[in-house]
Amino acid sequence: MTTTDHYAVFGHPINHSKSPRIHQLFAEQTQQKITYDAQDVPADHFEQAIRSFFKQGGKGLNCTVPLKELAWQQADSLSQRAKFSKAVNTLVLQEDGSILGDNTDGLGLVADLTINHSIALLNSRILLLGAGGASRGIISPLMEKSPKQLVIVNRTVDKAITLSHEFSQLGDIYGCSYDDIKNDQFDLIINATSASLSGELPPLPDNILAQKGCCYDLAYGNKPTTFVNWGLAHNAEKSLDGLGMLVEQAAEAFYIWRKIRPETRQIIDLLNSERKNIK
Ligand code: ATR
Repeated sequence: MTTTDHYAVFGHPINHSKSPRIHQLFAEQTQQKITYDAQDVPADHFEQAIRSFFKQGGKGLNCTVPLKELAWQQADSLSQRAKFSKAVNTLVLQEDGSILGDNTDGLGLVADLTINHSIALLNSRILLLGAGGASRGIISPLMEKSPKQLVIVNRTVDKAITLSHEFSQLGDIYGCSYDDIKNDQFDLIINATSASLSGELPPLPDNILAQKGCCYDLAYGNKPTTFVNWGLAHNAEKSLDGLGMLVEQAAEAFYIWRKIRPETRQIIDLLNSERKNIK
């Protein structure tokens, strides 16, 4: 008889998380026997919550806002990409009982951009909005695709400059203020600020999107985010939110845990059609 392995996502707030549904769909598709639930875990309960989750037989966890940096600190060991990003979204129980921290966010973004949406990154000029944990997690996977330049822009400009220096060995990365980019143009603008969560928009100058340029918001919702609407209003060839990235990062976490890779396209299509029907 095969046993049912238990997984969960921790975050705060967590009630709107689509992760339980996505992992349930993966499990059905790949015929894996797992349970996966969402648990509301505030930052000050996190350490205790992970210890008791694994003590009770849990096999793996996802961590989302605001716990990714804490998960990075709590893991017993880290994958190379998690080390770099200083954030962990996937925890895995190892055979020796220790907990490995990994980060599948960047890979999820790059898979959604390049495979699902055929957006070429090679020799492109990319503008990254924001210099917090979400930006940190995606810089290295983006640079692996050899863009011409990555410009990091942030309201608090010092943070953009510090981040650009930290990753400078990966290629041409430049940190600056929103004012500094007003005469510039980019092939891809990625919103990694938390502005969408409160319906706000970073102070973007007009005319910064190159012809046939694309916009991508790491955030997602049932309705287009403010930044996705900004992209549409500025003639973006594609203006996308982070639903595809969410499914792709989940697929990579599922693969790490179950050693079987789910097919993502049909699940992204299903979630997209479901949210269109939500009023
Ligand atoms: P996360 O882990 O989600 O990246 P974070 O580390 O708190 O969260 O970072 C949030 C990012 O969004 C920061 O870059 C922040 O800019 P500041 O460093 O200047 O605070 C950015 N941000 C949040 N709200 C914003 C807004 N309304 N306009 C522009 N940037 C915003």
